Formats: sequence, structure tokens, C-alpha cells
Amino acid sequence: KLGVKGLVDAAAGGSVVIPEIFIRPPDELAEDLELARTSLQVPVIDLMGVDDKGSSPRERIVQEVKQASEEWGFFHVVNHGIPIKVLKEMLTGVSEFNEQDLQVKKQYYSRDPEKLVRFNSNYDLYMSRSANWRDSLFIDMLNSYHVDPQDLPSVCRDPTVDYLNHLEKLVHTLFELLSEALGLETNHLNQMECGKGRSLACHYYPACPMPDQTLGVSKHTDASFITVLLQDEIGGLQVLHENQWADVEPISGSLIVNIGDLLQILSNDKFKSVIHRAIGNVSRTRTSVACFLDGVATPPKVYGPIMELITKESPQMYTEFTVRDYIIKFFSRGLDEKSGLNHV
Ligand code: SIN
Ligand code: FE2
Repeated sequence: KLGVKGLVDAAAGGSVVIPEIFIRPPDELAEDLELARTSLQVPVIDLMGVDDKGSSPRERIVQEVKQASEEWGFFHVVNHGIPIKVLKEMLTGVSEFNEQDLQVKKQYYSRDPEKLVRFNSNYDLYMSRSANWRDSLFIDMLNSYHVDPQDLPSVCRDPTVDYLNHLEKLVHTLFELLSEALGLETNHLNQMECGKGRSLACHYYPACPMPDQTLGVSKHTDASFITVLLQDEIGGLQVLHENQWADVEPISGSLIVNIGDLLQILSNDKFKSVIHRAIGNVSRTRTSVACFLDGVATPPKVYGPIMELITKESPQMYTEFTVRDYIIKFFSRGLDEKSGLNHV
């Protein structure tokens, strides 16, 4: 229950001994040696002018979102309207939560997915092949738009509320752009309430003495419609692109957007939910905050491939699902196991 940071602190400045459970299995390490690294860069999309519907900047943005969602499943957004101060304070809040007294953190310690605010190292510890070198604070708002600020740890309460409030408009805009990129009415995905349920995963990756043999986050796809990721300047996120790992380099002030399994299903495979992972850093601690946009969980709402996107050339690829069933399935397996996409 000390968390990964607890292990590092226990070494008290001496060398950190990495418990066996964090070392990745040999076949995975061997597979890594086979996968080349690419220097190709995840697309960067400038949202300047996006609010001007019908304008040429907006049309360019939609085209870029379409191409990035089809080819990468990942893109950076810059000039997204959220002040850099809000982003910095959110990341600082995550560091401060993790760096406070263990007794305070312990109050939030839980592996129970029903708990709305929970702190742990590896929620899937008993199902995954190796443990990840990170501690995470989860803030779950699956059943409502809003979190009660009183439920949040006090050190990161205000920055978290502030960040979530600022995200509101950006998320709405992103679903508009994604709708248009799919050739649908602007409001299509917003009307389906894809952006409604949300949860935050605030990650803290202490410096790791053996980043080649461990991982901060094992490879996985997200079980969301989309995820908006905020990362600090350290780097470590990689996406699998054309069977090669591409580094998602930190860009100051950017947010990263990725397509999750649920939007892959809705788009009937037009958009891709792409495998990604995070590697550790030898000397520096990294923080990141993922906001998962999960749609409506209760009352149960049925989602499936969008009718307009099912054609003779593009037959229905997936069956219908409810978000609740999907999320339960997601959490009942190791993060590194195969995704639960409901193929027809
Ligand atoms: C994740 O995808 O789960 C975390 C990514 C990151 O920390 O960059
Ligand atoms: Fe992820």
C-alpha cells in the first residue's frame, strides 16, 4: 500500500531495488527489440479559428482531424483555448497529491472500481503480466457530468475543478469536429452524449532505475469514446504506428487527443483506437492526466455503429453495447490483455 513512490522513498536516496513483479516477461522484452522505433511525429492540429463555423480554418481543422483519426488515432491540439496556467496547476496538483504524507494518501487507497475517488498503483495487479511503475489517482464521474469538489483530495481540489470546467467547451468542440470528420451533422456525437460520463486518471511515474525492463503503463487501447491527455515536459508516451513505436513528444501547452474503443465502434472502424504505452524515465518523475470521455452509463444507453456509416462497402462491424457493460468488461481484465471490442 506504499505505492511505487513508497518503494522509491524507502530506498532513502540509496539505489532502488525493483521488485520482480515489475520486470516484464522475456517474450515481451524480446518483442520490443523487434519493433523498430520511428521518428514519425503524431500530427499537431492548430485549433485557432475553430469557432468560426464554415470558415476555411475550420474546414482545414476538420480535414486534419479526419486524417489524424484515420491514420494515427492520436493528435495534439494547440491553441485549444485552455490557459497554460490551468494545465500547469493541474499537473502540479497531481505532484502535490503524490508527494504529501502517506497517511493522507492512504485515505484514498482502494481497488474498488465502485469508489468514485481511488488511489492505487496497479488497479489490475492481479490480472496483468507485470506491474506498472506508477501510482494513479482515479476520479470517476461516469454517472454524472460533475464531481462533488468535496470528494476530491484537498491539495488538488481547485486545480482539478478548474481544469474540468475548462475542458467542457473543448470536449464539445472536439465531438463537433469528429462528427464532421465522419461526414455526419455537426451535433451528431454530442447528441449521442458521447462526452457525458467522464473520468480522470492522474498518473505519477517516479523516476525508474530500469526503464528498459519495466513500463509506466503497459500497452493498451482506451475504453473511452475519446481521451484528452495532459502530460508534462518529460515524455515517455509512445503510440504504435505502422507497427513501430512513435514517441509522442511533449509540446508545451498542447493537449493530446486519442480515439478510444467506443468511437472506433461508433465509426464502424473508420477511426482507430490505437495501442499506446508509457515508458519510464531514469532520472525524472513524470506526471500526466488522462480524461476519458465515456458517454452515458446510467440509465443504460445503447450505443452501436452509427447507421449512416454502415453501407454495402462498409458493413456493420460491431454489435451494440452499453457503456456500463463495456467498462465492467474493461476493468475485469489486465490492461495489457486484448481489448473487448464487440465484433459482429
Ligand atoms: C495512459 O495511456 O494510460 C497513460 C498515458 C500517459 O501517461 O502518457
Ligand atoms: Fe491510455
